[in-house]
Amino acid sequence: MALRLTVIGTGYLGATHAAAMAELGFEVLGLDIDPAKIETLAAGRIPMYEPGLEELLGRHVAGLPGSSGRLRFTTSWAEVAEFGDVHFVCVNTPQKHGEYACDMSYVDSAFDLLAPHLTRPALVVGKSTVPVGSAARLAARLAALAPAGAAAELAWNPEFLREGFAVKDTLHPDRIVAGVASENAERLLREVYSTPVAEGTPFVVTDYPTAELVKTAANAFLATKISFINAMAEVSEAAGGDVVKLAEAIGHDERIGHRFLRAGIGFGGGCLPKDIRAFMARAGELGVDQALTFLREVDSINMRRRGHMVELAREAVGGAGSFLGKRIAVLGATFKPDSDDVRDSPALNVAGQIHLQGGQVTVYDPKGMDNARKLFPTLGYADSALDAVRGADIVLHLTEWREFRELDPAELGAVATRRHVIDGRNALDPVLWRKTGWTFRAMGRPNA
Ligand code: UDX
Repeated sequence: MALRLTVIGTGYLGATHAAAMAELGFEVLGLDIDPAKIETLAAGRIPMYEPGLEELLGRHVAGLPGSSGRLRFTTSWAEVAEFGDVHFVCVNTPQKHGEYACDMSYVDSAFDLLAPHLTRPALVVGKSTVPVGSAARLAARLAALAPAGAAAELAWNPEFLREGFAVKDTLHPDRIVAGVASENAERLLREVYSTPVAEGTPFVVTDYPTAELVKTAANAFLATKISFINAMAEVSEAAGGDVVKLAEAIGHDERIGHRFLRAGIGFGGGCLPKDIRAFMARAGELGVDQALTFLREVDSINMRRRGHMVELAREAVGGAGSFLGKRIAVLGATFKPDSDDVRDSPALNVAGQIHLQGGQVTVYDPKGMDNARKLFPTLGYADSALDAVRGADIVLHLTEWREFRELDPAELGAVATRRHVIDGRNALDPVLWRKTGWTFRAMGRPNA
């Protein structure tokens, strides 16, 4: 009989995983402790913006017209334990308040609530990003709490999905990592992922600690790559070079590659910043903090970018003067395009700093307005890029949405008070903007 799957925690990762597993042909039951979230998902809707995800839910959520009916949702732990052969734990692991370490309370409580209901053999699969060593601890806890005892097994199967590409990354991952302690666990995971594996996705089998480390190492590497190019931007800025050309040229070296070398105001979001901090905290606990001290530098290069953007804007609106009485249009609020996520967003951080220093900031973002308003209710908001730019002394391009690349600089120039733009993402075309009389400045390319 085909495996039946459950997904525990239906946030960003869980909702996508549940819908993708239904798409692969499995019967899936999703659980969340938040009844409102379950109600939304059961109606085929999602509480965030993610391209393609609502369509996928629409194809599989039971009760929706024309759906396969393979995907259902519940808030009952007993129902989940009864239903599933394989349980995916997809709850979040935020940064602890006031500390670098990650907060494991959601993961721990998911295991504590599920395990006592596991009366038959089951594989519990952790997908959350956790400090190395957590899986071994949770495996022991599972065996102790589950009535099925050792027949309730654990595997660790980290998730690498990117916001904006979550559906594609889940259905066609570039690798699957299976941290297992038995052949049975490996067999079950191979069965779950047989479709992507048949398409050629590499399936890497490891022990628990390696699987946990793969995730944090991958994010640490990506963060380092971004901060590396941003460090080069700082040097280019001082030396009169052009970091965009520099990135293009070094990227032609296949060992370096072009991806993740876009200099600008740096990385943000719910993953990279907190993951590198939790990684440092864990290394400290393991007595190898020196191995990761470079990540402190990666973090501070990244945070400096936001301050540097504020300084560039300050210079542009009046030399050493202040933002008082100046109108600043901010294009972009989300931490990256094709997402409505504003968590640790460099764009909103810059907007907030300028606002707190007396500037009159007006923000526009194609999808992030509601979340931005909740986080920063005191900023000004406009319904379009044009409205944000109306009367502005300066325009800051802080999230590289396609919509902003397609703007007509002449049209914006007609409503702006001063034609001055700073590109914080190195994504706009300087020639196009200058042609219509704009003073154009980008980060790490003072003369471009
Ligand atoms: C990241 C990882 O890519 C993903 O594998 C992991 O599962 C979760 O964390 P995500 O947070 O969705 O995914 O964003 P990502 O696309 O990695 O971008 C992170 C940040 O880096 C964004 O703020 C983006 O604007 C910034 N970035 C990215 C740069 O500043 N320059 C680049 O060249 C690339």
